[in-house]
Amino acid sequence: MAAAVGRICGARLFKNYGVATTQLLSTLGVVGGGVGALLFALEQSVQASGNEAHPPHQPWSHDGWFKSFDHASVRRGYEVYKQVCKACHSLQYIAYRNLVNCTHTEEEAKAEAAEVMVKDGPDEEGNYFERPGKLSDYFPSPYPNENAARAANNGAYPPDLSYIVLARKGGEDYIFSLLTGYHDAPAGVVLREGQNYNPYFAGGAISMAQVLFNEAAEYTDGTPATASQLAKDVATFLRWTSEPELDQRRLMTIKAIGMFTFLLAISYYIKRHKFITLKTRKLAFKPSK
Ligand code: HEC
Repeated sequence: MAAAVGRICGARLFKNYGVATTQLLSTLGVVGGGVGALLFALEQSVQASGNEAHPPHQPWSHDGWFKSFDHASVRRGYEVYKQVCKACHSLQYIAYRNLVNCTHTEEEAKAEAAEVMVKDGPDEEGNYFERPGKLSDYFPSPYPNENAARAANNGAYPPDLSYIVLARKGGEDYIFSLLTGYHDAPAGVVLREGQNYNPYFAGGAISMAQVLFNEAAEYTDGTPATASQLAKDVATFLRWTSEPELDQRRLMTIKAIGMFTFLLAISYYIKRHKFITLKTRKLAFKPSK
């Protein structure tokens, strides 16, 4: 880096700015390079010190700059969440209205919301009451608070899943591997009461039991509900909950690339047009007599 900066300076690009600038840039280069190398080394050492298995990369249909979510898969993933994960995990940043036009029609989403009871109030007499959910309601949590969640799960807290894909290294690959990676503990690994062995979980001992088996959930679209299919769909769903705006962002990328390419072409043309007189002029020296 420093060498590169030095070379740029040597190429006299910055010559007019004097020696101080050159030194400043070199220092910046050295510091920048050093910090970069340190960050890289720290990242590598963290990876090397963990004893967990690294999740292999799966060919997700939404991988790539111009790909959108597989919405049928997101919908199936919602069904898995509803039938399996919801018993323990909250999804507090997703509201029923988010499902509309993404995985469900408005009527379907309203019906989904109406299935849960939501605490509301106070009413005119100052009492709190329960009512069926509406589109504007957020997904309800299975437990009233963290202590209740821990008490029901052997002391471990099932984390909120809304942003879990962004919160774990490996993202949806990790979720898929975690859900399908349960094994008998290898010789020498001692698990405590209520713990299970999963090589993808840091430390190997996870308090969540294996939840996905073949036919552990039912799909309304008739897709065979194998364990890996369930895991793939719920991982796709959780990627969507982490980034519901992904489709819009990618659409904007396509529009922006189209627009800026056009603008770049026009700018280039105008630049040529304006500079042509300057660039093709001829300077002649005529000595006065
Ligand atoms: C019976 C309750 C229960 C069910 C059902 C359940 N989980 Fe969990 N889950 C837990 C508990 C408890 C933990 C915390 C484990 C720990 O910290 O050892 C957890 C942790 C997790 C984690 C975080 C792991 C980490 O890296 O910290 C993910 C991701 C997860 N569960 C996904 C799911 C998904 C997806 C489903 C549905 C397919 C599901 N869980 C169903 C109880 C459950």
